[in-house]
Amino acid sequence: MIKNIDKRLNSIDTFEKKENIKIPDTKKKFLQLIITEMNNKLNLLNLFPNEEKLEIILEQVNDLKKSLDSFRPLEGVHIDKLNDYFDEVYTYDSTTIEGNTLTLQETALVLNKGVTIGGKSLREHFEIINHKEALDHIKEIVKNNEPFNKMILLDIHHLILKNIDVNSAGKYRNIDVMISGSQHKPPTYLQVQNLMDEYFNFYEENKDKLNPVILATEMHERLVTIHPFTDGNGRTSRLIMNLILLQHGFPVTNISSQNNSREDYYNCLETAQTKDDKSLFHKFIANNVKEALIKYLEIISVNGDETTKGEYFYTKCLEYSNNKDKK
Ligand SMILES: Nc1ncnc2c1ncn2[C@@H]1O[C@H](COP(=O)(O)OP(=O)(O)O)[C@@H](O)[C@H]1O
Ligand SMILES: [Mg+2]
Repeated sequence: MIKNIDKRLNSIDTFEKKENIKIPDTKKKFLQLIITEMNNKLNLLNLFPNEEKLEIILEQVNDLKKSLDSFRPLEGVHIDKLNDYFDEVYTYDSTTIEGNTLTLQETALVLNKGVTIGGKSLREHFEIINHKEALDHIKEIVKNNEPFNKMILLDIHHLILKNIDVNSAGKYRNIDVMISGSQHKPPTYLQVQNLMDEYFNFYEENKDKLNPVILATEMHERLVTIHPFTDGNGRTSRLIMNLILLQHGFPVTNISSQNNSREDYYNCLETAQTKDDKSLFHKFIANNVKEALIKYLEIISVNGDETTKGEYFYTKCLEYSNNKDKK
């Protein structure tokens, strides 16, 4: 792919003539930037570097979101393939965090070829299939403009646990639970109903006020802290977060199960619960949203032969690059 750009750039004029198209100046300059500053490999972290302050990360997210919007409508074969790939990775990571042992390749095989993996339990297969189904379901909800409410939450939880734990699927718990490895003790089951009513009240009161990334983060954190289900709280709350992000035009945001990401995720949840400090969790999720936007943009900005899209993004990148040089 990158080689492809390189080839195009070496003879960008020839390319334009041959294809009989005119690549806008900003896109040309952007492609030049990749070659000169990034050794032929687009790395948006160069332009949107890691930041400590939440407000600055949210500003970057805002810019990256507007950038993504400048490529709309997002359609075509390369976009469909990209979405399928992200869905596989997200399904793999969200089930791995929770203990599933299928590899990414095995997850993709189960989803795309319907094969079973020798030596792996039926339960592990269902976890993968169910998660993808729940993900497809939230996309439908977004497409149909359905509002988030209790029924939707229980439907998603039902999809996650169906064929696995029929008695608990789609129902709040009626026993007390512990979160392994955590100091946080979820509330007794007697309080779950009330706390969940408050949860939805919070959503109704804040859905049009809060920054959407913060809203999605809050609905994720509040849900896992109440822990309303016997199992599947993590997967369900990550899907609710994504439902809200998708409703606001963000791409699916993944929390990786690799490297230290899972530990970081647990640590900032623990800090939110035991030290009454949500700032680390807010930053953690904002950075994950930023990463999702960057991954998406890194692919769509150099692929596809669309020449009229992405003006905002290309201009923004050139602006960031100029500012960086001045610093
Ligand atoms: N302090 C905490 N430490 C670790 N995980 C926590 C903590 N508080 C809430 N959680 C959530 O609990 C989830 C695990 O709960 P569980 O019901 O087993 O969900 P799932 O089966 O989907 O993983 C984690 O993925 C995480 O989202
Ligand atoms: Mg579990």
